Amino acid sequence: MDEYQRSWEENGFFLIPGLIEKEELEELRRLYPSGVEYAAGRTDAHPHAPKRLPDGPRGKQTLFTQNPSQFAGQIDFPWTGQALNRLTVHPRITEVASTLLGTADLRIYQAQLWAKYTGARDYEQPLHLDYSSHTLLVPKKKSRSQQVEMFLYLTDVTQGCAPTRLVPRTLTREMSPVPYHVWRGTHPELYRAEVSFPGPVGSLLVYAPDIWHRAVDLTEPEGARIWMNLSYKVASTDWLGLQSFQRLAMAPDWQRFVAASTPRELELFGFPPPGHNAYDEDVLAGLSRRYPGLDIGPWRDAPDA
Ligand SMILES: [Fe+2]
Repeated sequence: MDEYQRSWEENGFFLIPGLIEKEELEELRRLYPSGVEYAAGRTDAHPHAPKRLPDGPRGKQTLFTQNPSQFAGQIDFPWTGQALNRLTVHPRITEVASTLLGTADLRIYQAQLWAKYTGARDYEQPLHLDYSSHTLLVPKKKSRSQQVEMFLYLTDVTQGCAPTRLVPRTLTREMSPVPYHVWRGTHPELYRAEVSFPGPVGSLLVYAPDIWHRAVDLTEPEGARIWMNLSYKVASTDWLGLQSFQRLAMAPDWQRFVAASTPRELELFGFPPPGHNAYDEDVLAGLSRRYPGLDIGPWRDAPDA
């Protein structure tokens, strides 16, 4: 982890190749078609696959606000399939987050699946920062970050499958974060300095919120890139966030996820720890009815905090 941490501090990003085993990712096939299936038009069984836009010029940079169709193919947590849901609390992933953020008291604030296919959309973006939707403030860049963004690769990502382009922090430290995007015409040196990280399925790309980066078009014939966006933050940072997990609470997949999770894992989603005064006898009785199968023993037996 030392060499990754050095790159995090200097460049603001790194890739850990093959952090997660391939076997854990099989249920993904039920959600998304492969690149070959997509190219052959075999998408009927996969309603989340982005519809192919009519053929037109590709490679034109557009901002997400001008081209929201770039987000087709995204599915928010929780997913139908608990192996994918469990990746949000995978100890090898949360350990990376807690090491970088300097605390084990973390919250997950983004968990989304995303699939892109060659030729499906115009995916080219300008270099940008993500803070427009991840914080009410702007990112810190000269002291320890309170949030970390990750892409967990769920397919092999070759150079033709559009690995995200990133600019090392050493070149952008003095840049204003406003506006949150810069175009090739005004900042050609940043575009020339872009790096990217192809990697095998199960790899984890990690980057800081002050890192300029962008999506590009897939060029590999019959190509697909499928990944999970995972973002974590230090607890008690109300200005950081993206998704609300409270509004999912009626989803059966969420209820199954909760029933299979430990108190520590649920703390990542905002459950107070056992012993917290949010719990009393009535709340614990309600929890065991709301989440059938949840072992409330750890909450019931905890001394008052
Ligand atoms: Fe982004």
